[in-house]
Amino acid sequence: MIENNIVLLLRDPRSNSKLKSDGNALVAENNATYKTDGNLINFLHDEKNKATEEAASFRWDKSKRLETDSGFIKHQLNDFLLRYGFDNIESFKIFLKDVKTIAEIGAGEGRMVDWFLEYSNATIFALELSDSVYYLKEKYKNNERVVVVKADALYHPFADGSIDLLSCEQAIHHTDNPGKIFSSLCKSLSRNGKVILAVYAKKSAIREKFDTIIRDTIAKESSERKFDLAKKITEIGQILSDMKVDVEVPKSFSEFGNLAGEKMSLQRFLYFSVFKCFWNDDFSFEKSVEFNHDWYSYPICNKTSLEEGSLWFIKNGLGIDYIDSNASNINIRGSKK
Ligand SMILES: C[S@@+](CC[C@H](N)C(=O)[O-])C[C@H]1O[C@@H](n2cnc3c(N)ncnc32)[C@H](O)[C@@H]1O
Repeated sequence: MIENNIVLLLRDPRSNSKLKSDGNALVAENNATYKTDGNLINFLHDEKNKATEEAASFRWDKSKRLETDSGFIKHQLNDFLLRYGFDNIESFKIFLKDVKTIAEIGAGEGRMVDWFLEYSNATIFALELSDSVYYLKEKYKNNERVVVVKADALYHPFADGSIDLLSCEQAIHHTDNPGKIFSSLCKSLSRNGKVILAVYAKKSAIREKFDTIIRDTIAKESSERKFDLAKKITEIGQILSDMKVDVEVPKSFSEFGNLAGEKMSLQRFLYFSVFKCFWNDDFSFEKSVEFNHDWYSYPICNKTSLEEGSLWFIKNGLGIDYIDSNASNINIRGSKK
C-alpha cells in the first residue's frame, strides 16, 4: 500500500494531474490507472525504449549479486565518493543531512539505494525501467523508506518541487536525448534541490568507432548471444591483464586518446584506446562479464562532454559544486542557486 504522503509527491506522467490511491492502483483525474503492488508502482505503459528495457532486464536477471561482499562494496563506494568530490563518508553524510526525498534514476539492483538508506534519513524513490524492479520490490519490501517505481525516466512521475536530491548515476545515457531527460527530471527539484550526475564521457575517435562496430554487430542478436560475446571480450581482458605488462605512454596518439605520460597495464591501455575489454583482478570473472555486457548490449549509449554536461546544469538553474571527468565518465554535483 502506497501511503498518502507519498502519493502527494507524484503526478500522472502523461497529464500531470494529481493521483489518488484506490488501494490497488494510483488513479489520475482522467482515470489513467497505474497499478500498485506493495511498495511497487508501475507507471510504464508503452513500448518506447523496449530494447533498453529488455537488455537491462536480462543483465540484472543474470547479475552476480555482490551486495554482501564488503570488499566489492567498499571499492564501489570509494570510487563513488572520489568521483563526486566527497572527502570521506562523513562529508557524504553532511551532503545528505537535510535531504528528505531522493529520486534514484535507473536504480538497477539498488546499489545507490543501499547507500542512501545507510547515510541519509530520506524517503527514496527507486525508479527503474527494467524488470529489476521486481528484485527491488522484494529487497525493500520491509523498508518503508523505499518506493519502487517502474517507469521510463523520460516519463517520470515526480511532481514539481517534490525531490530534494536527484541521483542520475550512470543511467540516463541509455536514452536518445539525455539532456532532455535531465531537464525534465530537474523540474521535480525542490527549492534547495541537489543533483548528482554521472554519464559516459566521450571517448577517443578510434575507441568510439570500435565500440560502435561491436555494438552494431550484435545489435540484432539474442540476449544470450550478446552475453556470450561479453564473455569472450572478458577473456581477452583477462589474458591481457595476466600478461602483466605495463605501458608508459610516451606521447599523445590523438585518434586513440590523449594518454601521454600515463603509466598503465597493457590491458588498460587497449581498454582506453581501442575497445572496452574490462577486467579487474579484484572482481570475479562473472562480474567483469557484466561490466562488458552492460557496455555493449544496450542499444543506446550516448556520450557527453564535460562542456555539454555543465550546460545542462546552467540551463536548469543549477550551480556546479564539483566537477570531474575521467576516461569513462563525467561526474557533476550541483545544487539550485
Ligand atoms: C549501470 S545501471 C546503474 C544503476 C544504479 N544507478 C547504480 O549506479 O548502481 C543503469 C540502469 O539504468 C536503467 N535505465 C536505462 N535507461 C533507463 C530509462 N530510460 N529509464 C529508467 N531507467 C533506465 C537500466 O535499466 C539500468 O538498470
